[in-house]
Amino acid sequence: MKIIVGITGGIAAYKAPELVRLLKKAGHEVRCAATGHALEFVTRVTLETVSGAPLYSDLFASGRTEHISLKDWGEMLVVAPATANIIGKVASGIADDALSTLLLAFSSKPVVMAPAMNCEMWAHPAVQRNVETLKSWGIRMVGPAEGELACGVSGVGRMSEPEEIVKSVATVLQHTGPLAGQRWLVTAGPTYERIDSVRFIGNYSSGKMGFALAEALAGAGAEVELVTGPTSLNISTSRRVNVHRVESAREMYAAATEVFPSCHGAILSAAVADYRPAECADHKLKKNGSEGMTLELVQNPDILATLGGMKREGQTLVGFALETDNEEANAQRKLEKKNLDYIVLNSLRDKGAGFGVDTNKVYIIGRDGSRTESPLLSKQEVARLIINTVTS
Ligand code: PMT
Repeated sequence: MKIIVGITGGIAAYKAPELVRLLKKAGHEVRCAATGHALEFVTRVTLETVSGAPLYSDLFASGRTEHISLKDWGEMLVVAPATANIIGKVASGIADDALSTLLLAFSSKPVVMAPAMNCEMWAHPAVQRNVETLKSWGIRMVGPAEGELACGVSGVGRMSEPEEIVKSVATVLQHTGPLAGQRWLVTAGPTYERIDSVRFIGNYSSGKMGFALAEALAGAGAEVELVTGPTSLNISTSRRVNVHRVESAREMYAAATEVFPSCHGAILSAAVADYRPAECADHKLKKNGSEGMTLELVQNPDILATLGGMKREGQTLVGFALETDNEEANAQRKLEKKNLDYIVLNSLRDKGAGFGVDTNKVYIIGRDGSRTESPLLSKQEVARLIINTVTS
């Protein structure tokens, strides 16, 4: 998401660069807008360096209507710290500097404010009335927290920590993101196919790619049903992701086919075992004296092909293909055979791609002939690229 961080003149402005850094780390593009008073506490150079973009602080500097072009660019405005002054100005419709003008122009988009001031100022009826007015217009307040204040007293008035503000941004995005109101299914991780009570057939999938997809979908506002094979990964609790932990391909099949009909789309990144032992011993198998051992395998259901057969008009189905040779031809064949809208090809011949690692390099091939190729990126960045491609 494109987020504008607005900074006003309070001592907590020193935490604004950290907030910008955390928002960027969470994958957002960030620009800053500051009041003149804010620049008494934090410098232009710092804000431009951490955001990687020019600071907006002067209504007249560019000679253009920058408050409007910045409003068009931004998808959310986070004011941190928000002083009593800026809260009062917005509540009264005053626009006399760069940030207050931007805030009035931003009336149809989500705004989060993190108030910070002395506790008696915060308790003042005028401030409380203004805060209630802003809340009634849909502006979300995070904090203020209780604790020691810069003026030496203790009370309610500290700006919430940047981590808290980032969580609040994530919550707002879940209700306002481009996929708000949609439900998506994601499969992740390996499957384990039991041989006996202590052994299984498995593979090297860590679940990282699938968990990154689930997080990115939730970040874009979707509700996610994540069906995952055995992995030690967890989803951050602030996200709306329902995690279904399964072990075998047949369990994954049961969970995925149950939720798919209520989903807008599905992205299947799990590395599912194609075969399982015909029989699973309920005890530990012992050596029987012979040199070799023959294990009879039977085929597992193909979850992706089954969903391809169930797919309704309007549902989007995305598969993965992990290949080692004839990559494109194999991926294209799977796209058609399994009735997919997109297939995401990753090749074990690309260094840094595939199993276990934190990075991936993918080719997203569409049924319509489209082709999007990524460089080597983090799995989080790849997940966002996939979601942007398959939902646009
Ligand atoms: O988990 P990581 O360590 O982060 O690694 C990510 C990954 C390498 C596992 C992932 O990027 C990936 O490539 N996943 C698909 C691996 C795979 O099994 O590909 P495949 O070509 O065998 O299967 C094709 C597609 O059919 C996949 O979407 C798979 O989920 C699906 N499938 C396969 C067999 C089966 N019985 N049911 C299925 O749904």
